Amino acid sequence: MTKLSTGEAMKTTYLTALLIAALPALPVLAQSTSDAPEVEPRPQEAEITEMADGGAAWQSEYTGTDGEDLYQTLCAGCHMPDGSGAVGAGEYPALSGNPNLEFAGYATYLIVNGQQAMPSFGHFLSDAQVVAITDFIQSGLGNGYEPDGDIEGVAAVRPLDPVDQDTEEHE
Ligand code: HEC
Repeated sequence: MTKLSTGEAMKTTYLTALLIAALPALPVLAQSTSDAPEVEPRPQEAEITEMADGGAAWQSEYTGTDGEDLYQTLCAGCHMPDGSGAVGAGEYPALSGNPNLEFAGYATYLIVNGQQAMPSFGHFLSDAQVVAITDFIQSGLGNGYEPDGDIEGVAAVRPLDPVDQDTEEHE
């Protein structure tokens, strides 16, 4: 198999292969596939949570500092591409028109540390990436706030004793 650049591509390839393989022998083959893709309203949600949990493994995949790109990749699965939020398997607050985004601190804290059903992203995002996402959700998604995120603000909310992903000492 050729080397695939992203998990997304790998999944697509896998699904396509699975489909083609299963076609002539349905339903026997389809039945025998234990990890058949599940149909979910927001498949990205599970992937993102897994990714956030995976930490360093994903670090190299997300080197971009474009806030909108990062939002669409990491956040839109739950909060929706336009920030309208969703109610389904869980409850995902709308970020569009959200007064809690007037100041960067709150969003910055949540991106780094997560909260309840929202995973934490701090362990695989750089300070600059967290700022970029914060700025995007403050000024974009129909929010007209003046972005006021900064590196110091990110550093201030990072856990004092972060898990060392390089040595995987938490394993
Ligand atoms: C797996 C789903 C999921 C993902 C992915 C996710 N969030 Fe959330 N987010 C939530 C949930 C659930 C809450 C509500 C948390 C709570 O109950 O306190 C939330 C809350 C928030 C809030 C607070 C809203 C408010 O008014 O209190 C902000 C801001 C936010 N998320 C931004 C982001 C950003 C930015 C990203 C991407 C880096 C992101 N979220 C990714 C599920 C998610």
